[in-house]
Amino acid sequence: MTLNSHGLFAERVTEVKHYTDRLFRFRVTRPQSLRFRSGEFVMLGLPSDGKPLLRAYSIASPSWDESLEFFSIKVPGGPLTEKLQNIKPGDEILLRPKTTGTLVHDALTPGKRLFMLSTGTGIAPFISIMRDPETYEKFENLILTHTCRSVAELQYGFECVEETKNDPLIGELAQEHLLHFASTTREASANQGRITQLMQDRSFFKALNLKFLDPAHDRIMLCGSMAMIKDVKSIIEPLGFIEGSSHQPGSFVIERAFVG
Ligand code: A2P
Repeated sequence: MTLNSHGLFAERVTEVKHYTDRLFRFRVTRPQSLRFRSGEFVMLGLPSDGKPLLRAYSIASPSWDESLEFFSIKVPGGPLTEKLQNIKPGDEILLRPKTTGTLVHDALTPGKRLFMLSTGTGIAPFISIMRDPETYEKFENLILTHTCRSVAELQYGFECVEETKNDPLIGELAQEHLLHFASTTREASANQGRITQLMQDRSFFKALNLKFLDPAHDRIMLCGSMAMIKDVKSIIEPLGFIEGSSHQPGSFVIERAFVG
């Protein structure tokens, strides 16, 4: 696969699905030489006359997948997403050949339960991680939470969990070891409230019949708005959870969901 004059891969859109006026999912062909770790992000953009504008996008497909999946917000007036939301199969997408990110296995010390807490498009890296067989080798249980304003915004997560549980490679593992908890904050649904509030009043743990957090065995990944990350940190750090990175693994890692 060759790089274009800007040093970027030029790939093709293969699928697009819109969920709401704010959210959509799309797939692109994967450059054969692009290697990444499940949970990482890549810089992505559209062809333009000048230097292309790139934004960081978490890859939602696992590292073994033949195509690359992304889950995007549509920001009115957003420099990239205003145009990106109009893509159709066959259109060209540009990718920088390097991937990176902190939501990777290597940034966490060994543990038993892996909590993946997300808001909005922050669920994307966890969709990659929950589809990776290595995650099930490293952890006994995976708990994915997704909080959005409305029920329609949760649909992508439900679809991906369903697909994962029916996947020939990891379906059985996921059925046995993956829990999914979805909540809404601005519309009535089975679980209502911010994840911070539901952790603090313990209703999240009660709903899933789980023991409360214990830094000795639990590992946490956070992806969403800065406000959510800050507030979850203020709950888990006093419990003894320590932030990690690829260089210095810890008991939790964070990454903000990208916008624009
Ligand atoms: P809320 O509706 O109460 O603001 P957004 O759509 O703005 O990206 O937000 C995604 C989800 O993240 C919403 O359900 C929102 O709840 C929730 N959220 C926003 N701020 C926080 C926070 N500080 N802690 C936990 N959840 C938050």
